[in-house]
Amino acid sequence: MNSLTPFETAEPDEDAMVEDLIGILRRKMERDYAAGATKRDAHPKHVGLLRASFSVEPDLPLHLRVGVFAQAATYDSWVRLSNANGTPQSDAVADIRGCAIKLLGVVGEPIAESDEPGSQDFLLVSIPTMPLGTVKLFHDAIYYSIERSRLFFLAKMLLTGQSRVLTELQRAKTHPTSPLDIRYWSTTPYRFGTDRVVKYSLRPTSARRSVLPSTLSDNYLSDNLQQHLAQADASFDFMLQLRTEPAAMPVEDSAVEWREEASPFVKVATLRIASQDFRTAERDELAEALAFSPAHARVEHRPLGAVNRARMRIYKALSDFRRQRDRRTAAP
Ligand code: HEM
Repeated sequence: MNSLTPFETAEPDEDAMVEDLIGILRRKMERDYAAGATKRDAHPKHVGLLRASFSVEPDLPLHLRVGVFAQAATYDSWVRLSNANGTPQSDAVADIRGCAIKLLGVVGEPIAESDEPGSQDFLLVSIPTMPLGTVKLFHDAIYYSIERSRLFFLAKMLLTGQSRVLTELQRAKTHPTSPLDIRYWSTTPYRFGTDRVVKYSLRPTSARRSVLPSTLSDNYLSDNLQQHLAQADASFDFMLQLRTEPAAMPVEDSAVEWREEASPFVKVATLRIASQDFRTAERDELAEALAFSPAHARVEHRPLGAVNRARMRIYKALSDFRRQRDRRTAAP
């Protein structure tokens, strides 16, 4: 069990559920992939791995100058854009989309769980809240869908009065014009210094936007990404939302939206993605070799809440597993 901060409380059986999840997901990876070609259990299909720069805003108000945002600086970064579905599938299938950012060359104290002390990662998805907001819900979704069948999971949710989770998961799956055109959210909370808690979001700001093709091909997202970056740079505002109303903004349930009317997101950095050719064998290999994790964090940005505590252990166990199985090295 990770140590708890004053903002957190542990779920009953959390440790046992995390251990169980690691076993289930590892067995699934062994079943689905031959050794030498092991993909991530979640978000296995990358739409593109991009070189980027992450520039902290100059002249931030004093109360926002925390951790990597303490002073104006620009970090070389990797951005991995992905489809969330646990099995690689056509871009034409509606899905939740992922955006993982890795800041390189970060100085300062990493959290004890980090195995990449020079990295600060931010993992985001294309929905503001995570309908599977607790470890128990994630555990049941994964256990029933993988070890039994998807129908078991659907039945379990319906019989326990949680059909809302199913509706929200379905609504979260979309066909965007391009991964550069949509907004992303962390859904889970993070520490902000010693006494505050935040969530993160990315807002697209590129002048150029893509068009949805009349027929969606298997790799239309990657095609649109490539066309965009062949012609123009792309950019996003990186923003954070301070937790101002603890009762209405829980740390332990990522399904609850922190209302923007109560606490608006504020811009703290710019993510710039310069025009580039990312469709190369070297880039594809690096996309498989890298590991993004909430645990790659400075102490000021420690991941909070049960889902994040679980993720720190699960991502470490499974990224180690796929790298060892495929004899890949870990350096970002
Ligand atoms: C207990 C809940 C969760 C489990 C079990 C889980 C599981 C995983 C696993 C196994 C990976 C691949 C790790 C690797 O091999 O490197 C992954 C990747 C990812 N997860 Fe989760 N996840 C959970 C919750 C979330 C949440 C709440 C988010 C919201 C931001 C999220 C966003 C992502 C993204 C964006 C990636 C892709 C990272 C990359 O590009 O490498 N996950 N997840």
